[in-house]
Amino acid sequence: MRLSSPSLLAASLLLSLQTDLVLAAPKISTVGAKFFYENGTQFFIKGIAYQLVPDDPLIDTEQCKRDIVRMSELGANAIRVYHVDPLADHSGCMKAFADAGIYLFVDLDTFHTQIEQQSPHWNATQFAAFQAVLDEFQKYDNTAGVFVGNEVLTTKDGAAAAPYVLAAAHDIKLYRDRKGYRKIPVGYSAADIAELRPMLQNYMACSPNPDSRLDFFALNAYEWCGQSSYTFSGYVNLQKNASGYPIPIFFSETGCNVARPRTFEDQGAIFGDEMSGTWSGSMVYEWIQETNDYGLISYGPPAPGGAAAATNTLVDDGFTRKGTPTPVSPDFSNLKSQWATLSPTGVALSVYAESTSAITLPECPSSTAGGWAVDPSAPLPILIYGPRDHNYTRSRSSVLIVASATASSQGLASATSSAKHSGAMGLGNTGAGSDGWMHAWMLLCGLVGVVAWWL
Ligand SMILES: *[C@@H]1O[C@H](CO)[C@@H](O)[C@H](O)[C@H]1NC(C)=O
Ligand SMILES: *[C@@H]1O[C@H](CO)[C@@H](O)[C@H](O)[C@H]1NC(C)=O
Ligand SMILES: *[C@@H]1O[C@H](CO)[C@@H](O)[C@H](O)[C@H]1NC(C)=O
Ligand SMILES: *[C@@H]1O[C@H](CO)[C@@H](O)[C@H](O)[C@H]1NC(C)=O
Repeated sequence: MRLSSPSLLAASLLLSLQTDLVLAAPKISTVGAKFFYENGTQFFIKGIAYQLVPDDPLIDTEQCKRDIVRMSELGANAIRVYHVDPLADHSGCMKAFADAGIYLFVDLDTFHTQIEQQSPHWNATQFAAFQAVLDEFQKYDNTAGVFVGNEVLTTKDGAAAAPYVLAAAHDIKLYRDRKGYRKIPVGYSAADIAELRPMLQNYMACSPNPDSRLDFFALNAYEWCGQSSYTFSGYVNLQKNASGYPIPIFFSETGCNVARPRTFEDQGAIFGDEMSGTWSGSMVYEWIQETNDYGLISYGPPAPGGAAAATNTLVDDGFTRKGTPTPVSPDFSNLKSQWATLSPTGVALSVYAESTSAITLPECPSSTAGGWAVDPSAPLPILIYGPRDHNYTRSRSSVLIVASATASSQGLASATSSAKHSGAMGLGNTGAGSDGWMHAWMLLCGLVGVVAWWL
């Protein structure tokens, strides 16, 4: 019997359609100070910090699936992962999370590549490592954002590290755009340092050059412990300093554990009338129960340490890191009840878009001795230049300008050669392949680095 080709065609069409349906998660992007789904509905983060193992929790598909069942029960729509291995295969976990409508915010750094508050720097080694993580996770539609750092500044005297964080964001944004990736939001996750607020926050979003602004700002805040209130907890001050902020802002960690059990009442404020017009939700710290005692679930009682633990690969630092998740009671159900009642509608993109032209940038904070020790007019320690950087460049970097003029014009050519890239940049296609250009560009960065060092 001969299979009729139309039915074959129909079958394969149906198959590919179904595959598409399964794989596609509506992408998240930022407009003005908010996140939106593709359909124009505002996206509020109900997230969980998820780092079962130090290296990479997104490579064990079966474990991801077991955890996703409980995350969905909790009402989570996002996870935050601090460390990943860019060379590993994440497709199984990422698809499982996408199928559950759960988005990833991933940190680009590792313990070896992170920007340090003490002797801060941002160099080509770090940049290459950050690029590798972006290269890997830009493949997935449910990657909702990346962090260029987590709590780089931890003290009121740490301000000098801020330009390096912002430089990393600048370079990753240019890299993202030159590779023709979708505009995955690039942000920073800040420690809650009262003395630096609102300077740090404003510094990250004040530049007239959009390349030199974060796409979102996030705060790790543990101010609200147990029974408290919007005013007493200090959230009122967080709100004061964030109202009118030009980019999305959210809690990248929250969930004080000083008062037990945890009741997560702060969620009511974050998703309520006082804050939800400004804040895009929160991520609760953290999924796994371990020494720090913040867990929402556990995989078993604390395991024996010492030699026995060393032979059991599922145990690390005295805690089992794999298996069937068991809710920590009553914390898990407390959070579940909180989230179940909190569903702000936000604003529709079609309505919001009309108001974005009224958004104004905060003033770049001026330098104060013993306080915000950053000169607002100093150039960022960036590694690559975009066309918009020339206006903001100082003489010190003249050698960089010469080198990067070549790089950026080639970059534009390669960007416009990608059909996906819809920027209105009127440069022709030189025929240089994107990858070829990237190699040339990395070489150039290396050269520039050497020249800069030599000078
Ligand atoms: C838009 O998409 C999101 C995510 O799939 C969904 O939750 C929401 O209900 C949709 N909004 C509308 C208006 O269809
Ligand atoms: C960047 O700094 C790290 C130390 O944090 C160092 O190991 C590495 O060699 C540096 N890379 C370059 C290109 O200078
Ligand atoms: C930030 O909040 C503090 C405390 O409420 C307030 O004193 C200060 O004026 C605020 N600054 C800005 C710029 O919002
Ligand atoms: C850079 O400066 C030129 C000349 O002042 C101006 O025409 C151009 O709009 C500026 N570009 C940006 C991105 O500010």
